Amino acid sequence: MDFSGKVALVTGAASGMGAATAREFSAAGASVVIVDRNAELAAQLAAELAAEPPLVGDVSDPDFCSQAVATTLQRYGRLDALVNAAGIIVRADALGTSDEQWQRVMNVNVNGVFFMSRAAVAVMKAQGSGSIVNFGSIWGEVGASGVTAYCASKGAVHQITRAMALDHVKDGLRINAVCPGEVNTPMIKSERSGPVTAEMMQALADSVPMGRLAEPVEIARVVLFLSSDAASYMTGAMVNVDAGFTAR
Ligand SMILES: NC(=O)c1ccc[n+]([C@@H]2O[C@H](COP(=O)([O-])OP(=O)(O)OC[C@H]3O[C@@H](n4cnc5c(N)ncnc54)[C@H](O)[C@@H]3O)[C@@H](O)[C@H]2O)c1
Repeated sequence: MDFSGKVALVTGAASGMGAATAREFSAAGASVVIVDRNAELAAQLAAELAAEPPLVGDVSDPDFCSQAVATTLQRYGRLDALVNAAGIIVRADALGTSDEQWQRVMNVNVNGVFFMSRAAVAVMKAQGSGSIVNFGSIWGEVGASGVTAYCASKGAVHQITRAMALDHVKDGLRINAVCPGEVNTPMIKSERSGPVTAEMMQALADSVPMGRLAEPVEIARVVLFLSSDAASYMTGAMVNVDAGFTAR
C-alpha cells in the first residue's frame, strides 16, 4: 500500500498496536503524527521513524485533541487518516469497579475517540476525503467476564463508529473499526491482580482458535488496508481480527 503524500495521525502511537500502525504507515510513505501521553516512548518512536516531534497529551482532553489536529494542519496542510488506538483497561466486574475507574475508562476509550474524531471530521469534511479507524475490540461485540467498564467502552466505540460513518458518508469520509482479539502488547499483561505467568499466557493463547496471540503488526496491516483506497467501499464496518474467536 502506498501512502506517499498522505498524512496519518495515530493516537496511542507510543506502544503496542498504535506503534505498529505508525511504523506501517511510515514504511508505506505517509507522514505520521505521533500522539500519546507517554512522552518518553513517543519520542523514541519519533526518532526511529524520523518523524516530527510527537504531540504529547491526553486524548480525554477535548482541547488537546483539537490542538493535535490543528498542529497536523499547520505541519502538513491536510489529514488523510486518523487512527484512534489510545486505550486503557480495568480488569474488574461491576462490584469491583470504582467510580474513578469507570470514569477513567470511559474518558479515555470513549471520550478520547469522540473528541479526536470530531476534530478530524471537521477537517476531513472540508477536504472532501478522509478515513478514520477506531480501535474497538471483540469485547465490544461479545461479553467477557471481569472487564465490565472495558466491554461497555468498546461497545460505545463501535456505535460511535457506525453513527459517524452514516453521518459523514456523503461527505466522502469512511469510518470503520478494527476489533482485535488477544494481541501480544503491554496491555495484555497490564492491570492483572498478580504476576503474569507463562501458564496464564498459554491459557490465553489456548482460548483462541488459532492457538496463539496476534502480533501487533497483524492488526496494523488491517488498519492500513481500512485507511487505504483499497477499502473504498467500506464504511461503518466492525472488522474482527481475532483468529476466529467470535466465529464460535
Ligand atoms: N491488546 C489487546 O489484546 C487488545 C485487544 C483488543 C483491543 N485492544 C485495543 O487496542 C488499542 C491499543 O491497545 P494496545 O494493546 O496496543 O495497548 P498498549 O497499552 O500497548 O498501548 C496503548 C497506548 O495508548 C496510550 N494511551 C493510553 N491512554 C492515553 C490517553 N488518555 N491519551 C493518550 N494516549 C494514551 C498509552 O500511553 C500507550 O502508548 C486500545 O484501544 C485497546 O483497548 C487491545
